[in-house]
Amino acid sequence: MQVVETVAQVVAACREARRPLGLVPTMGALHEGHLSLVRRARLENATVAASVFVNPAQFGPREDLAAYPRDLQRDLDLLRAEGTDLVFAPPLEEVYPPGFDTYVEPGEVAINLEGAHRPGHFRGVATVVTKLFAILRPDRAYFGQKDGQQVAVVRRLNADLDLGVEVVVCPTVRESDGLAMSSRNVYLNPEERRAATVLYRALCRARDLYQQGERDAARLRRAMEEVLRQEPLARTDYVSIADPDTIQELERVEGPAMASLAVRIGRTRLIDNFLLGRDLS
Ligand code: PAF
Repeated sequence: MQVVETVAQVVAACREARRPLGLVPTMGALHEGHLSLVRRARLENATVAASVFVNPAQFGPREDLAAYPRDLQRDLDLLRAEGTDLVFAPPLEEVYPPGFDTYVEPGEVAINLEGAHRPGHFRGVATVVTKLFAILRPDRAYFGQKDGQQVAVVRRLNADLDLGVEVVVCPTVRESDGLAMSSRNVYLNPEERRAATVLYRALCRARDLYQQGERDAARLRRAMEEVLRQEPLARTDYVSIADPDTIQELERVEGPAMASLAVRIGRTRLIDNFLLGRDLS
């Protein structure tokens, strides 16, 4: 496994790499969710590249950039064990050199949900993903459905800017009690960890009602809120039943929908979602 830090090195490595090349963009602190993306990429590509970069542009001023878990050696060991060929782990100045002044601003798809609660977040995500696509020129890039709105933003920018990457979305990997794997789960103390399953339980409630034929989006949202209200440690940022491509709220679920929610458990903010009426592709 080749590990490189500079743009020049990774450009050279990708130019020589066997194609197709699959990229797994990450911010490190790898867990089974990331590794499932690497495994899928390994199945589908001659070369598997991963990036490890905690992108300051996608963190708000009061968010957890400084505290975000970092352990590059552990991440490299995990990536090597999965057969990754190339890792791009740049320092900050390599991605944002002095004088850097161009950002990618996503439109309507980034306004609601995470966009409303984390101003500037998707501008940062869109900028770094566009840069990674430009630098590594992957044939495919792998993202987890766990970050459902990020998936919609990346698909939109990839189409709108004609980047020509095949965006592959993989299912959310869960702990045995349903909690979606996230690098932020390490912040939870034992009591909060127990409470955190409420996100999964609320989503299951919406999915059960949907499967029983409920199509009224307001009723599905209310059902999730009811479950969340029963957990004293949970403070809800939003619950949503939205179009999974445009991230606009729905009145009725006539086609595919994404049930999603963001909940604070103590000081930790967790997100999760279920797709209703759509399989991943
Ligand atoms: O999902 C993430 O880990 C990040 O948002 C990404 C896509 C690596 C961009 O920094």
